[in-house]
Amino acid sequence: MSLSNFLSLSVLLTGLAPRAAFAADMNSASGVARTSLYWDCCKASCSWADHGSFVGNPVQVCAINGTRLTDYNLGTGCSDGESFACQDQIPWAVNDTFSYGFVGAYINGFLERTWCCGCYEFEFTDGPVKGKKMVVQSSNSNYDAVGYSQFNLGIPGGYDYASACAKQFGPAEIFGKENNGVLTRDQCDLLPDTLKPGCYWRFDWFMDAQKPNVTWKRVPCPSELTDISGCVRADEAQFIATAETNDTVAPPPSAASTVGSLSAFYTFALAAVLGVLVSL
Ligand SMILES: *[C@@H]1O[C@H](CO)[C@@H](O)[C@H](O)[C@H]1NC(C)=O
Ligand SMILES: *[C@@H]1O[C@H](CO)[C@@H](O)[C@H](O)[C@H]1NC(C)=O
Ligand SMILES: *[C@@H]1O[C@H](CO)[C@@H](O)[C@H](O)[C@H]1NC(C)=O
Ligand SMILES: *[C@@H]1O[C@H](CO)[C@@H](O)[C@H](O)[C@H]1NC(C)=O
Repeated sequence: MSLSNFLSLSVLLTGLAPRAAFAADMNSASGVARTSLYWDCCKASCSWADHGSFVGNPVQVCAINGTRLTDYNLGTGCSDGESFACQDQIPWAVNDTFSYGFVGAYINGFLERTWCCGCYEFEFTDGPVKGKKMVVQSSNSNYDAVGYSQFNLGIPGGYDYASACAKQFGPAEIFGKENNGVLTRDQCDLLPDTLKPGCYWRFDWFMDAQKPNVTWKRVPCPSELTDISGCVRADEAQFIATAETNDTVAPPPSAASTVGSLSAFYTFALAAVLGVLVSL
């Protein structure tokens, strides 16, 4: 083996290293994550049919007047499209310690198609909600997180800039300050009637917790959530039967395809490196 081959092999190995870490997490489907709040009124990312593999349609999407649309190819109201988030995808409390809701997910190291319409059980691990649980469905994706997992709870009056909300409901001020959202329970009174309950939930059940962290695990989707979102993952039935996901991880930049061939490759590479050292 020439020195230049040896060098390119080293580069290749360095490039492959993170792949091994992903593979170890592949079927765990659980972990720790940060949270935030959002409600931007935009068409959700999981409302595009090609953002996952679904039994029927992706996440229900609505017209500016709130009626359901059946065309999932229409663009988002966040640019100049006609689709907006449906107003029933808001959280609600079942009792003092358990709620349902919808989230924009980002699971570190995984692709969007592994989480779109998947359901997750959370247990909050800090703040006033510590010990409370939720079951949520991923209706959207959150790409603000880098290097860690994060679930953004879909809560009207959440923190982010609600420009499409201004277009849909106007004026923008009813959704609170830009990039701050609604600050008090009273300010929820200004929201459209459909969105008020989700805003109140934040100050009641959720106790206005400030970005509490969670432990999470994937769970079968309850009909309480899929009846609202209209979305069921294609691997849902298999997931229920085996209690495991059939998810795939983000593809590495290079070609190795399985864990088996990866370790065989490392063995080969080690032998090759030793061979080079011996011949030196
Ligand atoms: C709401 O908007 C849709 C799509 O533009 C339209 O077909 C429907 O008639 C509207 N419904 C009402 C009640 O205005
Ligand atoms: C709250 O509701 C959840 C889900 O139905 C249930 O598992 C839990 O036992 C309930 N907790 C209380 C205190 O009623
Ligand atoms: C959540 O976890 C992150 C990372 O460990 C930490 O920086 C942050 O302070 C935690 N948030 C809360 C509300 O405790
Ligand atoms: C898992 O997903 C792969 C790729 O989509 C598919 O070929 C395979 O049949 C699935 N396995 C099960 C048990 O559903």
